[in-house]
Amino acid sequence: MQMYDLIQKTRRNEQLTNAEIQWITAGFCAGEIPDYMMSAWLMAVCCQGMTAQETAALTLAMRDSGECLTLSSIGSVTVDKHSTGGIGDKTTLLLAPIVAACGGCVPKMSGRGLGFTGGTIDKLESIPGFRTDLPMEEFLRITKEIGCCVIAQSGNLVPADKKMYALRNLTATVDSIPLICSSIMSKKLALGADCILLDVKFGHGAFMKTPQEAQELAQAMVEVGRRAGKQCRAVLTDMNAPLGANVGNALEVQEVIRILRGEVRNALSDLSLTLAAHMLSLSGKGDVETCRRMAEHALESGAALEKFSAMIAAQGGDALVTQDVSRLPQSAEQFTAYAQKNGYISSIQSEEVGLACLTLGAGRTAGQDTIDYGAGVELHAFVGDAVQEGQPLFTVHGASQELCRQAAARIAACTVISPEPLASAPLIYQII
Ligand code: URA
Repeated sequence: MQMYDLIQKTRRNEQLTNAEIQWITAGFCAGEIPDYMMSAWLMAVCCQGMTAQETAALTLAMRDSGECLTLSSIGSVTVDKHSTGGIGDKTTLLLAPIVAACGGCVPKMSGRGLGFTGGTIDKLESIPGFRTDLPMEEFLRITKEIGCCVIAQSGNLVPADKKMYALRNLTATVDSIPLICSSIMSKKLALGADCILLDVKFGHGAFMKTPQEAQELAQAMVEVGRRAGKQCRAVLTDMNAPLGANVGNALEVQEVIRILRGEVRNALSDLSLTLAAHMLSLSGKGDVETCRRMAEHALESGAALEKFSAMIAAQGGDALVTQDVSRLPQSAEQFTAYAQKNGYISSIQSEEVGLACLTLGAGRTAGQDTIDYGAGVELHAFVGDAVQEGQPLFTVHGASQELCRQAAARIAACTVISPEPLASAPLIYQII
């Protein structure tokens, strides 16, 4: 096989065979296919797309480029969830204990945040002592005993994705549905859960800007999951506004604890219950409505809070944070912004909120940046709410008043108050 011929084939929109795709992936990982040839092929994929068969072949070849986990020692049906990333998206921290409290089993590997979207691992690491670097045996033992465990993605899974993603980032080839699909699904398949729920986000603060793009990505991912023999479903959700009230690592953990304690019910808790219901139904625990009732009971009875505490303790963290959120890291300064007029909130652009939190040090602009765990924003009013002049809109938490005021100006600029209420868009757009 010659890479030149395969680049030309993809460029002419001719379908590659499974063997050709495996050859490209293995050759690139082994350093036998140089970056300039791989870049040309990735660009051809970007421009011409790939068939479902090609996308599945690429995903499986990427999955097989490294270690694949065996979860069989857990001894029950396992379910994983992936979100394509958003602002204030802390659903994993809620649904893992909810699903565990309903008898489901969630072995979860998550990522750190980079850029304006946060990472689940950073949120968990804001809990004093919490360890996300557990050895595999401990990960499996905790998942079996408690029903959930969340650790950082192992460096040995899918080396092909690391190499390809780095090249895509440099060559304007990130933005391709088959390449995004194979990147995400290869990592999900290497983890090895029996069932996979995908939360595909669209809007300002998401990779996919429109519901149509999210639909296309979701369909591609579900198709690959099913071809790989998994129970797989996707939920398309709106990410135009931040999810829930808090953005920023310890602030997000605080919101999760308040929901698990039954003190807060909001769009975040509602979405988390729906996602948990789909995870339970994929795991064979009943239809979605029955599973939703089970999930609500787990939340209302305090069983999910107990699971969250047990998971924190098992992973070395200070489980007393679930009783006393002041044990979580807090920033030195706060600044509250107030409504300048009466009206209805018609927009709080999530990408701008994420970027403001980045300037506060709540996220990373480069991989090695350190994080201010206490930094972020607490929203007091949400899209659709009626507000009065002088009413608090949000509070920014940061290391200095200057940083807080700068971030507050940015968030205020993207918070639109309109004279009339807007028709509200549902958070869940479609299930695939
Ligand atoms: N997330 C991934 O893991 N891969 C992509 O290509 C895009 C988003």
